[in-house]
Amino acid sequence: MSTPTALVTGGTSGIGRATAELLHARGYRVMVTGLTGTEGHGLPDEVAVVRADARSLADLDHVMDEVRARFGTLDLLFLNAGVSRPGPVESIDEAAFDDLFDTNVKGGFFTLQKALPLLADGGSVVFTVGAGEGVGSAVAAAKGALLPLMRSLALELAPRGVRVNAVSPGLIDTPAYSRMGVTRDMIESWAQAVPLGRVGTPDDVAEAVAFLASDAAAYITGDDLVVSGGVGVHARP
Ligand SMILES: NC(=O)c1ccc[n+]([C@@H]2O[C@H](COP(=O)([O-])OP(=O)(O)OC[C@H]3O[C@@H](n4cnc5c(N)ncnc54)[C@H](OP(=O)(O)O)[C@@H]3O)[C@@H](O)[C@H]2O)c1
Repeated sequence: MSTPTALVTGGTSGIGRATAELLHARGYRVMVTGLTGTEGHGLPDEVAVVRADARSLADLDHVMDEVRARFGTLDLLFLNAGVSRPGPVESIDEAAFDDLFDTNVKGGFFTLQKALPLLADGGSVVFTVGAGEGVGSAVAAAKGALLPLMRSLALELAPRGVRVNAVSPGLIDTPAYSRMGVTRDMIESWAQAVPLGRVGTPDDVAEAVAFLASDAAAYITGDDLVVSGGVGVHARP
């Protein structure tokens, strides 16, 4: 069997980085994208790092050229590049709103569109969703758009045997929080509201992505795997 290949967008930090490491450890050839740079991520040397803005269609073309040249085909596309902007409705200006939708929705849509010719029949796509109501209305709307997108694509790509799923992280301890000014004390206090009693790690989500991409999930498509330590369970039917 040939070595499986994976593209992880937003793979230079947090959830994407942990997933790239895990996939590499499990024998995948892995390429990641990042927005600001290709240095200082600490990924293994064998993981290819490409600077690309998910909002730029020209950058996405460049990423696919790199995938074509290095891998030829893709077995896993992990659409994880994303931004969050918590806060009340008054705090979101037009630029912030556009950034949320351009990065999370437009970025995921066009990355997948451009990856389609490279995606192996029988391959797998995983979206990172998460961020439900309570985090902020604009980010909830942008992330919320991803679930019907994911389910539509699951139906559209099923004839090719391509499975399309999502992971929805709860509170996962990544550098995203410190960049938003969240302190360690705040994160630890939030942990008390998590039924399993701790915040999640990027590895918790990486394991879910690796599962969805694997043959163990061969009959799962159009689904959203929530990795939240139980947050939100009471609100589900
Ligand atoms: N952490 C959580 O609790 C949580 C909860 C729910 C959902 N999520 C979602 O999970 C995903 C990963 O978040 P994280 O917590 O791991 O955040 P993170 O540590 O900040 O990592 C975000 C990654 O996305 C990249 N990125 C950001 N904007 C991009 C753009 N325009 N084009 C390409 N790459 C871009 C970043 O690249 P640079 O580092 O170069 O900027 C980085 O590699 C996001 O979609 C986030 O919304 C996270």
